[in-house]
Amino acid sequence: MSEPSSTDKKVIPIAVAAPEAAPPESPTGAMIRTLGLVSAICGLIIVGAYQGTYDAVAANKRIATERAVFKVLPKAKSIAEFLAQPGGGILKVGAGETAIPAGSVKFFAAYDESGKLAGIAAEGVGKGYADNVRIMFGYQPDCQCVVGIGVVSMRETPGIGDKIITDKEFLANFTALDVKLKADLSALANEVKAVKRGSKTNAWQIDAIAGATITSRAVGKAINDSAQALLPRLVPKLDTLATKS
Ligand SMILES: Cc1cc2nc3c(=O)[nH]c(=O)nc-3n(C[C@H](O)[C@H](O)[C@H](O)COP(=O)(O)O)c2cc1C
Repeated sequence: MSEPSSTDKKVIPIAVAAPEAAPPESPTGAMIRTLGLVSAICGLIIVGAYQGTYDAVAANKRIATERAVFKVLPKAKSIAEFLAQPGGGILKVGAGETAIPAGSVKFFAAYDESGKLAGIAAEGVGKGYADNVRIMFGYQPDCQCVVGIGVVSMRETPGIGDKIITDKEFLANFTALDVKLKADLSALANEVKAVKRGSKTNAWQIDAIAGATITSRAVGKAINDSAQALLPRLVPKLDTLATKS
């Protein structure tokens, strides 16, 4: 038998099935998953930071508010927080209470060393140039007038709007700003309003700061709106607040 010649040899190809490659992941899907994860982590951090600082922020806010009350009523030695309710009732706010029932107006009664009423303080808010201007004002029942203001918070322009806390002539508006009520005690007798610098003719007007009329107006509106809401409820009940309880 003769050997098969090299030309007779047949090469039989062996097919090796390659493993099927997974389809490439779409970049959008990966991006959405990553963004979702990052958002969830950020959300957790934000919520954690909010909850962790809530008490400290509330305490700081309270301290700032109380400081403002003592600033606008310098004779005050102690203060108590009250709510003037829609029906006309006056309710003392207990320690730690923060929720204000709808329609109530918050105010502070300030007492001197002998426990006699040294004045009332209340907050007001008006739209300024950059944002809301939140102020505290002191009210003296004897003259039915505003006797001082302090800023609780504002974001007005440094050197322009923030003159409301430094301009002596502007602050002089608040030594005896008239907020008396009509004879039937239903509303303010006159609207408290800021007017252009130098044009004040009445005791209920505020001479604005030249170049900062917008912030000055915000202060006027804050006092007007707050006094309008509070005084008709408060004035008839002032005798109940005459001495520290
Ligand atoms: C950058 C910039 C910041 C300003 N910031 C205040 C501001 O904080 N409060 C304000 O009353 N007016 C601000 N003004 C000025 C007001 O645009 C406006 O001119 C002024 O309140 C009007 O006051 P006048 O009528 O007495 O001039 C600012 C103006 C500019 C250009």
